[in-house]
Amino acid sequence: MKSVTIHAPATIANIVCGFDILGLCLHDPCDVMQLSLSDQPGIRIRHLDDHNLPVDPPRNVAGVALLAMLDELDNKPGFELVIEKHIKPGSGLGSSAASAAGAVVAANRLLGDIFSKEDLVRFAMFGEKLASGVKHADNIAPCIYGGVTLIRSIFPLDIVTLSAPPMFVTVVHPQIEVKTSDARQILRKEVLLKDAIRQWGNIAGLVAGLMKGDYDLIGRSLEDVIIEPVRSILIPQFDEVKRQCKAAGALGGGISGSGPSIFMLSKEETTAATLEIIMKDIYTKVGIDFKTYVTTVSAGGTKTINND
Ligand code: HSE
Repeated sequence: MKSVTIHAPATIANIVCGFDILGLCLHDPCDVMQLSLSDQPGIRIRHLDDHNLPVDPPRNVAGVALLAMLDELDNKPGFELVIEKHIKPGSGLGSSAASAAGAVVAANRLLGDIFSKEDLVRFAMFGEKLASGVKHADNIAPCIYGGVTLIRSIFPLDIVTLSAPPMFVTVVHPQIEVKTSDARQILRKEVLLKDAIRQWGNIAGLVAGLMKGDYDLIGRSLEDVIIEPVRSILIPQFDEVKRQCKAAGALGGGISGSGPSIFMLSKEETTAATLEIIMKDIYTKVGIDFKTYVTTVSAGGTKTINND
């Protein structure tokens, strides 16, 4: 095999209450990446989009992830990488994770699947460090494993895949950029014990609700008393979107990753479609451009779609 094309999906980190430890994989949107082996050593990156992302490997999230992988190989192959991004950088939908995870999943295919999924997460986290200043795996892990993942620890890596009942996901991406590094900078470094107790009750409730398929418990647990009150001020109309969506039957939802996208989970497809209308109305009224998605949780993660 000389070349592989993969789909690297968007992800929702945190799932409201699980800051840095929970994430889920979406069917849509999805980046398309083609990686080819080259006789020339080194990594060459080309983007088929107009996001103006750096192509110098040490400054590119996919590049640093590949470099971390190459570090552990005696025979270092050359790579040509072509990236077509459909997940907008700075959207809160795991754009940097998709690039980093997609690159290492594709490279592993070309090398004959010599690395485990956990190794791939470890390499891809170098991309997150470059993008946000800190290693975290709550986009990378669901992007590679698919479904819903719990990252119990990153040092050492301890990833737990969680079962989940069928759910629809409605996402609105107001077209403003929130840099993850900025959205992390504004967070308080300490939390009150009473808030911590409430938050870990919610995390445990969410994990139990997902595994039992208990939609009411999932809904009750989608509450964040630590991060959301600080970050939501960066997102225009956040409270209004949440209020109206919950009134229309959403199980719950909140900031996707570090924002500005907002996501809502629903049990029924018709509810998910209604939420999209609500989101569109809210942003149209205030004159902010937006993009919406109605999708589902993807069990598959990053997939090979072609190789030759
Ligand atoms: N857990 C990270 C954060 C995800 O919320 O900062 C960033 O996509």
